[in-house]
Amino acid sequence: MTNTSGRHVPVLFQEAIDFLRVRPGGTYVDCTLGLAGHAEGVVRLLGPTGRLIGFDRDPEALELARTRLERACSELGSQAPAVTLVGEAFSSIAGHVHPASVNGLLADFGVSSLQFDEAHRGFSFQADGPLDMRMDTRRGPTAAQVVNEADERELADLIYEYGEERRSRRIARAIVRGRPVATTGQLARIVAQAAPAMKQEHIHPATRTFQALRIYVNRELDEIRALLEAAPRLLKPSARLVVISFHSLEDRIAKDSLREGAHQGIWEILTRKPVTASEEEIDRNPRSRSAKLRAAERTAASF
Ligand SMILES: C[S@@+](CC[C@H](N)C(=O)[O-])C[C@H]1O[C@@H](n2cnc3c(N)ncnc32)[C@H](O)[C@@H]1O
Repeated sequence: MTNTSGRHVPVLFQEAIDFLRVRPGGTYVDCTLGLAGHAEGVVRLLGPTGRLIGFDRDPEALELARTRLERACSELGSQAPAVTLVGEAFSSIAGHVHPASVNGLLADFGVSSLQFDEAHRGFSFQADGPLDMRMDTRRGPTAAQVVNEADERELADLIYEYGEERRSRRIARAIVRGRPVATTGQLARIVAQAAPAMKQEHIHPATRTFQALRIYVNRELDEIRALLEAAPRLLKPSARLVVISFHSLEDRIAKDSLREGAHQGIWEILTRKPVTASEEEIDRNPRSRSAKLRAAERTAASF
């Protein structure tokens, strides 16, 4: 995410670092490197015997993260930790990380500023671009394929389910009539005409439809479920899990999974209510307004 001056700003940075309780010599996993703001914070605390393992399924993000972390490590010189980067979805984490080897795991879900601000990635209706929305640009389908190939019923259902959009049927009908839909601007216009902004609403009328398509294209909720299911086996006793979500569907999965784990004696929940951004952070970085951080500590119970 970027602030108004265009600089990348990680959300809830200090809170995430504090809850992770980064200790020199430990092994930490950043499941969502993005532009590596949080990851750099961790790397600077790890010392020469520590290790960071970072994931991002977006090849462009992974390369930017690599550059940033290499720069940080070269500044740290002999004090730099080991860094391993994995260009895969975090649902594959169990194939890359040994059981009971991790001291802290961070996941900051959602779209990075890199993805959102670049028109060619097709995430945003602010600038017209091809309707793509894939985080992992090596694998399909694109949002254009979904919008042009799904039947009206499927489209309505996914817009309702993942966008929590009550006017999904009307929107799906308009999309089907407006096919072929090739760009973000074209889709935003179709949605805005079919379901204009309501008086009391402050968001663009296409916001929920875009969110729905993005979640669907990237299987975002399945990814989060898979990660939260794998995490307890990977963490050492007393290790920390920190997740940051940006909308209610993500946060509900995190909340339910941690509660269920706490019930089974696997997690001790550290945030009875989710941690949110301060007024000052929201002023600096408006997107932090919707961020919710939840943290838990792994108990010694076997899984
Ligand atoms: C909100 S950004 C993270 C920002 C990061 N914390 C920082 O400080 O720059 C989320 C990143 O996670 C990646 N991502 C989202 N879901 C993923 C998944 N299932 N597997 C791997 N990477 C994922 C996205 O490609 C994006 O780059």
